[in-house]
Amino acid sequence: MFPYLDFQHCINKAIETYRNDLFLYGTPKGLPTLIPVIARHLANHQVFAKPANMFITAGVQQALSILCTIPFPNGRETVLIEQPSYHLFIEYVQLHKLPVKGIRRTAQGIDLDELERLFRTEKIKFFYTMPRFHSPLGTTYSRKEKQRIAELAQQYDVYIVEDDHMADLEHDSKADPLFAYDRFGRTIYLKSYSKIPRENILKLDVSNVKEEAVEKGINQLMAVLHAMRL
Ligand SMILES: Cc1ncc(COP(=O)(O)O)c(C=O)c1O
Repeated sequence: MFPYLDFQHCINKAIETYRNDLFLYGTPKGLPTLIPVIARHLANHQVFAKPANMFITAGVQQALSILCTIPFPNGRETVLIEQPSYHLFIEYVQLHKLPVKGIRRTAQGIDLDELERLFRTEKIKFFYTMPRFHSPLGTTYSRKEKQRIAELAQQYDVYIVEDDHMADLEHDSKADPLFAYDRFGRTIYLKSYSKIPRENILKLDVSNVKEEAVEKGINQLMAVLHAMRL
């Protein structure tokens, strides 16, 4: 099902075109010619950021690990995560014995009063959240929730790490990431490109599902497919 030959062709072409760059030491921010390309692509997702503030990492996983390690301007150390959350990140914080707090997230969202209490009373460095297509719940925060989270972060000097790993699966052109609602510059937006090959598989699977099922909630379906690790 996956267009393997097309993918192979692209990889070969990229190696051929960039052979002088690919096998040398890179720059800490990633391939310089790629950054403006990524900037244009992110703008399509309503993520308008200066190329100077963009960094290419070997996936979201590496970006998370760097963010856990580097000091933040708020001088704090505790990471707040939704429960449930991305299992590999949970393993990461446990393995490294990082100070961590959790906030319950259900299909109905999170308790914003509880979020405010945690922001106010704990020394939260950043709140790791998946506003869109949460894994494993498959749900998405409403516009109001995204706005409120951004406001609370500003009020209590907390940063937000937004994991938008499934952004390419969005069909609603009006659904913007939390980053777009953050007027205060508190959100560090992470976008994964490792899901692009899988996206084709997901799209194929979705088209095979009955219309009513799609209407009932494409988000749930994504969660199922994701849980199957397609
Ligand atoms: C929620 C979430 N974030 C990030 C990733 C990984 O992204 P990357 O492959 O870019 O490290 C995954 C992988 O499945 C994921 O489920």
